[in-house]
Amino acid sequence: MLRLPTCILSLVVLAMAHPGEHIEARAPEKPIAAAWYAGWHAADFPLSAVSWSKYTHMTYAFGVTTPDPNIIGLDISDENRLPQFVSSAHNHSVKALLSVGGWTGSRYFSTAVGSAKNRTAFAKAITSILQKYDLDGIDFDWEYPGKQGIGCNIVNPNDTSNFLLLLQQLRQDTTLKRTLVLTAAVYVTPFADNTGEPSSDIAGFADVLDYIAIMNYDLKSNTAIGVGPSSPLDDSCAPDGAKLGSAVSSVAAWSNAGIPNNKLVLGVGAYGHSYDISSAVALSQTNSSSLNSYPSYTPNSRSLGDRWDGDSGVDVCGVMQAPGGVYTYWGLIEEGFLKSDGSAGEGIALRYDDCSETPFAYNATSQVYVSYENPRSFAAKGDFIHSNGLAGFAMWEAGGDYHDVLLDSIKNASQNGNPGSRTQKASLVSGTSSKGSSSAASTRPASLVFVLLPALVFLSTLMSVST
Ligand SMILES: *[C@@H]1O[C@H](CO)[C@@H](O)[C@H](O)[C@H]1NC(C)=O
Ligand SMILES: *[C@@H]1O[C@H](CO)[C@@H](O)[C@H](O)[C@H]1NC(C)=O
Ligand SMILES: *[C@@H]1O[C@H](CO)[C@@H](O)[C@H](O)[C@H]1NC(C)=O
Ligand SMILES: *[C@@H]1O[C@H](CO)[C@@H](O)[C@H](O)[C@H]1NC(C)=O
Ligand SMILES: *[C@@H]1O[C@H](CO)[C@@H](O)[C@H](O)[C@H]1NC(C)=O
Ligand SMILES: *[C@@H]1O[C@H](CO)[C@@H](O)[C@H](O)[C@H]1NC(C)=O
Repeated sequence: MLRLPTCILSLVVLAMAHPGEHIEARAPEKPIAAAWYAGWHAADFPLSAVSWSKYTHMTYAFGVTTPDPNIIGLDISDENRLPQFVSSAHNHSVKALLSVGGWTGSRYFSTAVGSAKNRTAFAKAITSILQKYDLDGIDFDWEYPGKQGIGCNIVNPNDTSNFLLLLQQLRQDTTLKRTLVLTAAVYVTPFADNTGEPSSDIAGFADVLDYIAIMNYDLKSNTAIGVGPSSPLDDSCAPDGAKLGSAVSSVAAWSNAGIPNNKLVLGVGAYGHSYDISSAVALSQTNSSSLNSYPSYTPNSRSLGDRWDGDSGVDVCGVMQAPGGVYTYWGLIEEGFLKSDGSAGEGIALRYDDCSETPFAYNATSQVYVSYENPRSFAAKGDFIHSNGLAGFAMWEAGGDYHDVLLDSIKNASQNGNPGSRTQKASLVSGTSSKGSSSAASTRPASLVFVLLPALVFLSTLMSVST
C-alpha cells in the first residue's frame, strides 16, 4: 500500500525528466521572499527592524574571499552579530544564509576554487562557518566567474567549471545537512565560459543550487545613449544601444543556458542610482515639469546620494572612485525627492518609463537625476515573477525599504500576480520575441505538474479504495 504511490511517483518523475532537458520534479514551495541584510548598516537598521515574518530567506552580507582558501574573512562586528542574526531568522522560520563575496569581496574566488586542493580547503572553510553559526546555507555572490568585476579580481578561464566542481563537492559532503541551502547571486548574463562569453549550457548549476538570484540592478548606462534605467523590467522595447539587460532578457538568457525558471529568483534593488545632469538637458524645453528620457551625461559625474551612500575614495583595488550616488527608497523620501506616499516632492519632476517599467526623479535645483524603483515598478516585477513561474524575489537590501511599501508590493504581486501592470505592458510592447520564448519555456514544466499531479492523486485514491 505504501509502496505503490512511491512507485507511481517515480514514474511521474521519470516522465518529466526528458533527457537533455532540465525539468524540476520537486513541487514548488511557497515563493521565495528573500533579502540581503547588510551588516554595516546594523546601527541604523538593527536586526529587530527586519520584517522577519514576510521573508522566507534572509542573507547576511558579507563574508569575503581571502588569498588563503582556508579562510573566509568576516569582520569582527559580523562575527559578533551573526549568532543573533541566525537566532532571529530561526525564530521566524526564516532560512539564515551568509553571502560570500560581493563587489569588493570576490577577489580570490578564482584561486579558492582553482585546484582540487584549494577547493577542498575552501569547502572546509565553508563547512566550518556553516556549523559555527548554525547557518542554513551560503549565497555565493561571486562578481564574477570568468569575468572581471571591481578591477583587481583574479580571473581564470576555468572559473565557471571550477565553481561547479566546488558546489558539487559541497553537495557530496555527508557531514552537512541535507537541507543545506546553496544559492548564487549572478550577473544578468550567464556565467562566462572559458572564452569569456556567456555560457550556452550551465544546466549543471541547477542540480546543485537551490536558486540563482539574477542581480537585475546597477545596470550601466551608455554615454552614447544617455542615462537609462538601472533596474529595467524590460529592455526589448528600449532604443538600440540601450538594451543593456533587464529582467525579461536576463531570465531568457539564464533559461536558455539551462536553468529552469523555477530555479531563478529575480534580484531587485530597493534603491536608485543618480547622475548630475543640468536642467537644460534633463527637462523638456517646452515643458519644464516634464523629464527627458535618456539625457546625456558625463561618466562619474555623481554626487553623494543619501546618508548610507559611500563617498568618494580609494577602493580595494587602490583606484579612486567617485561617490556612489546611491539613494535607498527611504533616502529618496528623506532627501525630498518623494513624499512619504511616493508622490513627487516640491519642485521634483517625475517620469515613469513604460518600457523599463521604472520611475525617474529630478531635482532641478541640485540637478540630480535618479533612476529608481517604487511600489508600482516592484508590482510589475512581481507580476513578471508570477506569470513566468520564477521562484521568487531577492531584494538588496532589507534596510532600503520604507515601511515595507516595496516589499509588500513585490511579495503580493509575485504570489498573486498584478494583472493591471501586465495588461498595460502587453498593450505597450506586444509580442516581443524574447519575452514570448521565455514564458513558453517556463510554462511547460509547470503544466506537466498540473497534468501529472492530479493523475497521481487520482491513482493513489484508487489504490486506497481498492485495498
Ligand atoms: C529566539 O527565541 C528564543 C526562545 O524563545 C529566545 O531565547 C531568543 O532570545 C530569541 N532570539 C532572538 C534574537 O530574538
Ligand atoms: C591555490 O591557493 C593558493 C593560495 O593558498 C594560490 O597561491 C594558488 O594559486 C591556488 N591555486 C590555483 C590553481 O588557483
Ligand atoms: C583549465 O582546465 C583545463 C582542463 O582541465 C586545463 O588543461 C587548463 O590548464 C586549465 N587552465 C587554467 C588557466 O587553469
Ligand atoms: C508638462 O509635463 C507634466 C509632467 O509630465 C504633465 O503632467 C503636464 O501635463 C505637461 N504640461 C503640458 C502643458 O503639456
Ligand atoms: C533640491 O535640491 C536642493 C539643493 O540641494 C535642496 O535644497 C532641496 O531641498 C531639494 N528639493 C527637494 C524637494 O528635496
Ligand atoms: C495584492 O494583489 C491583488 C491582486 O493583484 C490586488 O488586488 C491587491 O490590491 C494587492 N494588495 C496589496 C496590499 O497590494
